Amino acid sequence: MTDSAQDGEWWQREAIYEVYPRSFLDTDGDGVGDLTGIRRKLDYLQWLGVGAIWLTPVFRSPMRDFGYDIADYREVDPAFGSLDDLDQLLAEAHARDIKVILDFVPNHTSDQHPWFRASRSSRNNAKRDWYIWRPPGSDGGPPSNWLSILGTSAWQLDPATGEYYYHAFLPEQPDLNWRNPEVRAAMLDVMRFWLDRGFDGFRVDVIWHLIKDEQFRDNPVNPAYIEGMAADQRLSPVFSTDRPEVHDVVVEWRTLIDGYPGAVLIGEAYLPVERLVAYYGDETRREVHLPFNFQMFWAEWSAPAIAQLVESYEGTLNHAAWPNWVLGNHDQPRIGSRLGSERARLAAFLLLTLRGTPTIYYGDELGMTDVPVPPEQVQDTFGQRVLGLGRDPARTPMQWSAEPNAGFTTGTPWLPVPPDAATRNAAALTEDARSILWLHKRLLSLRRDEPALSMGSFVSMGAQDGVFSFLRQDGESTFLVMLNFDSTSTSAVAPLEGELEIALSSHLDREGERCRQGIPIGPFEALLLRPLRR
Ligand code: GLC
Repeated sequence: MTDSAQDGEWWQREAIYEVYPRSFLDTDGDGVGDLTGIRRKLDYLQWLGVGAIWLTPVFRSPMRDFGYDIADYREVDPAFGSLDDLDQLLAEAHARDIKVILDFVPNHTSDQHPWFRASRSSRNNAKRDWYIWRPPGSDGGPPSNWLSILGTSAWQLDPATGEYYYHAFLPEQPDLNWRNPEVRAAMLDVMRFWLDRGFDGFRVDVIWHLIKDEQFRDNPVNPAYIEGMAADQRLSPVFSTDRPEVHDVVVEWRTLIDGYPGAVLIGEAYLPVERLVAYYGDETRREVHLPFNFQMFWAEWSAPAIAQLVESYEGTLNHAAWPNWVLGNHDQPRIGSRLGSERARLAAFLLLTLRGTPTIYYGDELGMTDVPVPPEQVQDTFGQRVLGLGRDPARTPMQWSAEPNAGFTTGTPWLPVPPDAATRNAAALTEDARSILWLHKRLLSLRRDEPALSMGSFVSMGAQDGVFSFLRQDGESTFLVMLNFDSTSTSAVAPLEGELEIALSSHLDREGERCRQGIPIGPFEALLLRPLRR
């Protein structure tokens, strides 16, 4: 490794791997994954070459939203293990140079959290104002027209006290009142608790939801709404989300985090890029290190569209803002299903060669696809309550081996394992040096060895004949990335003079090949090339 590879923070150089603990590895036979399971698979993650794991919430929870409804921010849910197990996971991850990022869910708690139980117990309770309580509107109905994720009113009447509470998600997930200083202090304590134990930072849940309009004004109708869109899209959530005051809260967190060198703050926000980048803050008021960039979830998968997307994102960031890219997560259909297996390789190549921190969703390195879940087996409350909102298909057990239940459990898995797990599994793909798993491993290892591919600059060469090309550069070292988004072979014009060598192809079968102008590139093939010195 050269000196410049040491530049930058770990969260800039390394890839983040999202673990959905329920589905990673079950070691006690209850069909649900656990912390011991994650610990046992650290060698695999180290072999793969990721620098950090982000665990979706493992805290005490009634599991109405599988951990995103927290009843105790400082306790591990028994379904996953104990606090000791979590500490042990951290220690063993650190021993392998793998960071551990926890999920911080500040917007709402479970309705079973003692804070909410107290809050709802009476209008005079000291915790009443910790949540968002409002009297009925002038018509006796909900206080505003705001909609929850389910597409119905986000206000739930509490008959005992005659007021409504606000919930952006399930009624079992009441929103905290972030205008209340006690709430802010209590949640800073929660962050401190985990940072003091040595965790490496947080992925912050629904960061843009935190603060709501002080006057609770009605949201306007969404002019872009068309039949078939999710029901909550009928309104534009301008008064219920992304309020200017949210940035003050994020600045407070960042100030705390900055007291823990190396700790990272990642924000989840589904927002247009120009509003998303505001969550970086600026030089005097820093906010999150990485506001998750989800644009690839909905991108048109063509060379011009992706080139345009990447160029405009890069162009929107100021020099201090570090880019990041996300291809999949536990809320979206899997990349393998969105694009199919050939394009999934191309997508991995893109993710791991662009400038910016990549996030890999567990199983995507195997090319796992969405697994159909029959209606009577739906586990996700969103899907149980509203047809089409279920996220189970992308959360099925990690496919470890050809053993029963893909080696995930000796019991009955909480979600089905698909038939293709017999061949599409980590054990089998480890043995296949041209697999998508090896493609991930090779790309991750190149990123570590070549500063140009991690901290290096990015220069787009645009899209031509279905091929998107860009340069990555650091000092003397230059790489050219060419990605063919089309299903036909082509001969691509390299924007570099002289002879080039293929450092990696997405099919893992052309390394060392030399070429000049007119580089043959196969259907959905991606190439990493470097100029040969004369
Ligand atoms: C985030 C999580 C999602 C959860 C929601 C409410 O979007 O990723 O899984 O349901 O927040 O906490």
